[in-house]
Amino acid sequence: MALSELSKLGLNEDDQGMTDPRIIVALDFSDRQHAVEFSHKVSPEQCRLKVGKELFTSAGPALVEELSGAGFDVFLDLKFHDIPNTVMKAVGAAARLGVWMLNVHALGGIAMMQAAREGVEVVSRRPFLIAVTVLTSMSARDLQQVGIENSLPQVVEHLTRAAIDSGLDGVVCSAQEAPMLRASIGDSALLVTPGIRPEWASAGDQQRIVTPQQAITNGASYLVIGRPITQHEDPAHALELISASIS
Ligand code: C5P
Repeated sequence: MALSELSKLGLNEDDQGMTDPRIIVALDFSDRQHAVEFSHKVSPEQCRLKVGKELFTSAGPALVEELSGAGFDVFLDLKFHDIPNTVMKAVGAAARLGVWMLNVHALGGIAMMQAAREGVEVVSRRPFLIAVTVLTSMSARDLQQVGIENSLPQVVEHLTRAAIDSGLDGVVCSAQEAPMLRASIGDSALLVTPGIRPEWASAGDQQRIVTPQQAITNGASYLVIGRPITQHEDPAHALELISASIS
């Protein structure tokens, strides 16, 4: 349906569910060539793409512009964590690149998150800004070792509230934490969940995996999925299977 027809109905593209794919494919490739080759196998109607630290460091902003230019929404996963002024400028630079979503570490503090929120306003259609609370690679013991004595769920919930109170759009979290966070912060915040595995995919190094259907049932807004799609012999087919399972 054309945009003009949608607006007559008081709908936007997202209301139709046609152009708001829930799957964000993690482009965990070491260089531009592999990332671009992969992007040719899938379409912006099927998925969004996540560019992380390795790929961004190797391929640079030009790759983000190239993927955006091809119509993909890009989640720039650089997890900024620095003094407020530096983060504000960095997220501003990312927003000018045209990214769809970006993130910061909630442990940078409320002043830093508020500065980041201000920083994304440099463009008229600002990107979503979300926070990482506690890295899912960290255990309760790891937190104790850096002097954080509260339980892991308490820290995750506390930092999530701090992110939302700072004006951020949501958090990255495990889909296993999603029900607890939905109960705590309500329906409107974005919950972006990695650690997703369809039944037919191997877990790899992920410990606490959740199926795509269960993640959505638990309240996830977007699913970050890497190897089950990028390493599949037919990535578009893998995407179709997963999309069908959550539609
Ligand atoms: O291949 P796989 O589906 O495990 O990829 C998951 C992606 O999500 C990777 O890019 C990984 O770095 C990222 N991620 C994660 N756990 C987090 C945050 C990000 O797996 N807590």
